[in-house]
Amino acid sequence: VIVRHSSGSYEIESVGFDAAFGEMPSDLRIITDENVDRLYGERIPSGMPKLVLPPGEGTKSLEWFGRCLSWLAESGATRKTSVLALGGGVIGDLVGFTASAYMRGVPLLQLPTTLLSQVDSAVGGKVGVDLPEGKNLAGAFHPPKAVFICSETLNTLPERQFRNGMAEVVKYGFILAAELLDDLPGPGEPLGTEVVMKCLDLKRQVVEEDEYESTGSRAVLNYGHTVGHAIEHVTGYGPVLHGEAISIGMVVEADLGEALGVSPLGTRDLVTKHLQRQGLPTTSDVLREGHSLATAMRRDKKSGPRGLGFSLLTRIGECKLFSEVPEEAVLKSLSRT
Ligand SMILES: NC(=O)c1ccc[n+]([C@@H]2O[C@H](COP(=O)([O-])OP(=O)(O)OC[C@H]3O[C@@H](n4cnc5c(N)ncnc54)[C@H](O)[C@@H]3O)[C@@H](O)[C@H]2O)c1
Ligand SMILES: [Zn+2]
Repeated sequence: VIVRHSSGSYEIESVGFDAAFGEMPSDLRIITDENVDRLYGERIPSGMPKLVLPPGEGTKSLEWFGRCLSWLAESGATRKTSVLALGGGVIGDLVGFTASAYMRGVPLLQLPTTLLSQVDSAVGGKVGVDLPEGKNLAGAFHPPKAVFICSETLNTLPERQFRNGMAEVVKYGFILAAELLDDLPGPGEPLGTEVVMKCLDLKRQVVEEDEYESTGSRAVLNYGHTVGHAIEHVTGYGPVLHGEAISIGMVVEADLGEALGVSPLGTRDLVTKHLQRQGLPTTSDVLREGHSLATAMRRDKKSGPRGLGFSLLTRIGECKLFSEVPEEAVLKSLSRT
């Protein structure tokens, strides 16, 4: 899969872990986290400078951004040095932001090791960190020079992290490719690399059309996310994983679509069925906190003065942006889910 953007293009390649390192430049700095290092560190060719960070969302911070920049400087990195983000979305976003800023931008390579980062965060060029004031508040667009998809890394992923990524996979089926839903494995069955590559090709089509998220068409990727982000916000980022939150969000937003006459009747049941099949949650106690959730949704970039913003299914496999949804309708869908 080749992704084109305003300043060039990059390849997303499905490749073995060891072979991927054979394709990387020798002037390389590797940044990873402790979990990934414990599992894969020995397979990194010896002598390559490596920085190992603590795992978890807390590392996606300005503080660690600063430390990564300083480490690059101390290690003698130049404008020609490539930086490899080896890990999940936390490492991808933090290291990508570091690469965007070091000497005003050095080449970034992505080797995503979680399902979520493989099908979503490693592609599209969005990089950044969280601020104490909110998630992803500082960042940049810095597309990678190459993305290496090593499906073997998924074998060591904890079950819950795997399902977390499956939520985004199922989402691609709902918004852009109904046929994808028939190809998905049941719980416990392995996920074929072709499914990951199919998702990436779908994301490629969307981001090529709206590279800087300016026309609104990139917002289709946000199905389930208005409610999902609100759930993550209200529960304090942690107890509910992103994929779990958007899974619940997709059910609420399917109900909303039906109530608004946008989605055909039965959409919510179909959405629920596909998510349950992947062992994903489709309801939660937090949905009772309708007013806190609605407050969080007002801050969503799709919302405006005339209502809340949602990407809603016009049928399974098709999605459209709506930006003036009345709050009462949303509260009803929350209480029904
Ligand atoms: N830039 C984007 O477009 C974009 C899109 C979606 C999400 N994100 C960001 O991605 C982040 C979430 O990413 P994530 O879900 O990958 O979380 P993560 O990076 O925290 O990884 C989840 C956990 O899995 C561990 N891990 C990673 N690879 C492993 C492997 N192969 N085997 C075993 N354990 C492994 C990690 O150490 C971590 O504990 C969030 O910060 C989110 O904002 C960014
Ligand atoms: Zn998401």
